[in-house]
Amino acid sequence: MIRAALILLINLILLRGIADAQSRDIEKKVDSLLGIMTLQEKLGQLNQLGGISDSATPGRTSEEQVKMVRQGRVGSFLNVTGAAETERLQRVAVKETRLGIPLLFGCDVIHGFKTIFPIPLAEASTWNPELIERAEHIAAVEASAGGIHWTFAPMVDIARDPRWGRIAEGSGEDPFLGSVMAAAKVRGFQGKSILEQGSIIACAKHFAAYGGAEAGKDYNTVDMSERTLREIYLPPYKAAVDAGVWTLMSAFNEIGGVPCSGNQWLLTNVLRNEWGFKGFVVSDFESVAELMKHGVASTRTDAGILGLCAGVDMDMVDAIYVNELVGAVRSQRLSEEMVNQAVRRVLRVKFAYGLFSAPYRNNDTLKEQTIMRAPEHLALARTVAQQSIILLKNTKNVLPLGKTTKTVALIGPFAGNENRRELIGSWAWVEKAEEVVSVIDGIKEKVSPGTKILYAKGCEAVADSGVEIEKAVRIARQADVVVAVLGEESGMSGEAASRSELNLPGKQQELLEAICRIGKPVVLVIFNGRPLTISWAAENVDAIVEAWFPGVEAGNALADILFGDVNPSGKLPVTFPRSVGQIPLYYNHKNTGRPCNDSDSFTSRYIDIPNTPLYPFGFGLSYTTFAYTNLTVSSPRFKQGQNIHIAVDVQNTGKLSGDEVVQLYIQDEVASVTRPVKELKGFKKISLNAGEKKTIDLTVTPDDLSFYNLEMKKIVEPGIFKIFVGGSSIDAISSQFTLE
Ligand code: GLC
Repeated sequence: MIRAALILLINLILLRGIADAQSRDIEKKVDSLLGIMTLQEKLGQLNQLGGISDSATPGRTSEEQVKMVRQGRVGSFLNVTGAAETERLQRVAVKETRLGIPLLFGCDVIHGFKTIFPIPLAEASTWNPELIERAEHIAAVEASAGGIHWTFAPMVDIARDPRWGRIAEGSGEDPFLGSVMAAAKVRGFQGKSILEQGSIIACAKHFAAYGGAEAGKDYNTVDMSERTLREIYLPPYKAAVDAGVWTLMSAFNEIGGVPCSGNQWLLTNVLRNEWGFKGFVVSDFESVAELMKHGVASTRTDAGILGLCAGVDMDMVDAIYVNELVGAVRSQRLSEEMVNQAVRRVLRVKFAYGLFSAPYRNNDTLKEQTIMRAPEHLALARTVAQQSIILLKNTKNVLPLGKTTKTVALIGPFAGNENRRELIGSWAWVEKAEEVVSVIDGIKEKVSPGTKILYAKGCEAVADSGVEIEKAVRIARQADVVVAVLGEESGMSGEAASRSELNLPGKQQELLEAICRIGKPVVLVIFNGRPLTISWAAENVDAIVEAWFPGVEAGNALADILFGDVNPSGKLPVTFPRSVGQIPLYYNHKNTGRPCNDSDSFTSRYIDIPNTPLYPFGFGLSYTTFAYTNLTVSSPRFKQGQNIHIAVDVQNTGKLSGDEVVQLYIQDEVASVTRPVKELKGFKKISLNAGEKKTIDLTVTPDDLSFYNLEMKKIVEPGIFKIFVGGSSIDAISSQFTLE
């Protein structure tokens, strides 16, 4: 045992030594290259051009852009993909420029490259970071085979407002779950070293607090206390930095009057001086130029100087740095040392990725032709989709459906083949619609030969035209069970897709009510990129399945769940409100001086709606049931700095085996500033056979108990801490301990 530990320690010291030697070697190379670069060449490295994406050939480049590469005025391309196309451009940079500095090719590989996985909000619903790390590794393997070096992911923005369309792209409302997922995604994309073949550089975005946009309106003002910023919105970015992410992307939004892409406190004081980040920051799309629209810069040159001095190292597609900053340096408005600092960071990443020694590392066209959508990739996409699906309701045990059910009616705009592309969600593309397994195909594949599958679209996804509700009702009447497949189009979430209402769009609600009036068992499946206000369905439909956008294996994974081959285990990473009027509504809220009490009007509540979520954070049902007993804390009292060990017995009290996400929350009862009523501080996904009981161990670390005090210092205060352990944020058994 001791020998093994010694060997491990020696290996760790050796690996650390190798890493330090490598980084010292890189710094030497960076400095010697920087020493011979002209000012224009330096600014060229800070310039990212966008590929010309049109319907015909997405991501191609113009002759003018190739000429700029030849002149050494381009450091990186956005959205130019393909092993051959990127090699063509890389050869121009390496062979036809004075210094031969290789290009960096970046692209939005948000939830898969050619094998499209469920959207990130669905990935978070798995509460399975190891699985998501594997998914991102497959995304990296495919993207690197497609000529990509760098992905603009993971998006780690905390979102508490489902009106904001980009809630679909992140891991939900909680900083702990968001941090665990951020780190797992960075590890998945970057591997143990970005030198490894099949790794790509990750980019944590959008720094910072983009999800805090007022009214859930994209790009809108963000204004919050530093305490909320540091305790709720910053942790996932910090987790990405601690996991070794090599780049970050500065956000469009301001925070409290200072736009992120010109925010020195954020990009230098916090990111570099406090967190020790050594990579580089790329701006979001034209967000340096947008400093003028924000009203903090009057010219492009002013915007460029503000962005660069704040800590934005690379300028995404507005060509300000490369065109305006030579003059700024020559007129001594900008020191060349500021430029050198940014160029050093960019060159450091290019050296770390091995591009100087292997500029064509990702240009193997044979590999590109063979590796995409490999069977094992699709199998993993199906597993992630299975684990991301959340069972929200299942009265009368309508689910799972029998595979020998005589007649099943599929009703709704997302059940058939015509809208199958919608099932992959935002930030995803497939060449052919047939690459996406539709609901009807997945179910046909699943049921017995004797089962009759009927189908009617019933209405369009959004348009009020094309309503065929009577026809759908006639079809549904012939069935033993109806599966209504409703929801949002993929373009209704993601960027620039904020909604003021969160109901089922178009005539879908009308269709659902007509179907339910028939009196047959109805299962509602929703495809969506955000929580929806489905209160009527929650009251009137027998079973509800939250499928999000499950990716290319949508139909297969959904059929696996509906017909019981897989027991649902997903849990909500976001709160479902009953109405838009309740927003923002999140579980880790403050108690206030008048906590909601429906028997006392003079408390924090609405008078016209139940003051609870429709479905709470962490919630998700199973086809079996779990019981939590015997919650114990290793001691009733602890000293500062000690880990707190917690144990709980979990038993599968049903008839089917299943997975459960055991969740641990704490509450700091009394502190020098108000604390949330609950904070997620740990979780474990476990598997239990019918009747099986396991004792689950969880640990609370001193950092888990910390918060920012009145002086904005991160501290832990003595006092009583409650702990809650259970299968959701509201269904938990509790205990407590005292910290001295
Ligand atoms: C977009 C998005 C960002 C994306 C970038 C490049 O505007 O805000 O998430 O990575 O531009 O496509």
